Amino acid sequence: RKPVRIAPSILAADFATLGAEVAAIDKAGADYIHVDIMDGHFVPNISFGPAVTKSLRSYTDKPFDCHLMISPVDPFIPEFVDAGADIITLHQEAGAHLHRSIQLVKSHGKKVGVSLNPATPASTLEHVMDEIDLVLVMSVNPGFGGQTFISSQLDKIRTLRAMIDETGRDIDLEVDGGINETTAPLVIEAGADLLVAGSAAFKGGPEQYAANINRILGRS
Ligand code: DX5
Ligand code: ZN
Repeated sequence: RKPVRIAPSILAADFATLGAEVAAIDKAGADYIHVDIMDGHFVPNISFGPAVTKSLRSYTDKPFDCHLMISPVDPFIPEFVDAGADIITLHQEAGAHLHRSIQLVKSHGKKVGVSLNPATPASTLEHVMDEIDLVLVMSVNPGFGGQTFISSQLDKIRTLRAMIDETGRDIDLEVDGGINETTAPLVIEAGADLLVAGSAAFKGGPEQYAANINRILGRS
């Protein structure tokens, strides 16, 4: 098993000072920067887009883990490549041609992830496991930070852990939504190795970020 890493979601940061927030969460120990993109169509909320993402690129050297909650997604993939995304994760539910979207990300030389909403079964990824670099299990319905962890997703994480191990490939198993010091040990036990945390990572302001991250990862 790989060491468990953390991808703080800047959705929970102060949008008025996003550059400084990204620099602060980097310094506090973020492994990836989780960038939540919401379109008001696939999900019932709007966050920000590729221009804001690009403007943040110079504030950290950590990988940008871009979680695209947008439909259609294909027309925006080149824009997020240009914005400096390192990993582009799209939703299984966001379009009719998942395999094509995956190939589009790969054609730009970027890592590709696929995310599953809480009601979408793990088996929908069976025929793309050899193509992808990351699976993102949503443990809340996407659209908002600060929601409660849906514990039925633990079984799905276990199933995906087995599916990933069976490939023998290096595929991150990421979990997103309601992750805090209480739920993190549950998803880690189920097989997750990359944790997204929004509100739990950014609570209390920049002086608290390192302590927040250590607490979520069980280091304190
Ligand atoms: C939800 C987003 C999450 C969100 C997590 O749609 O994809 O990344 O920011 O926020 P918390 O950790 O507060 O549940
Ligand atoms: Zn997310």
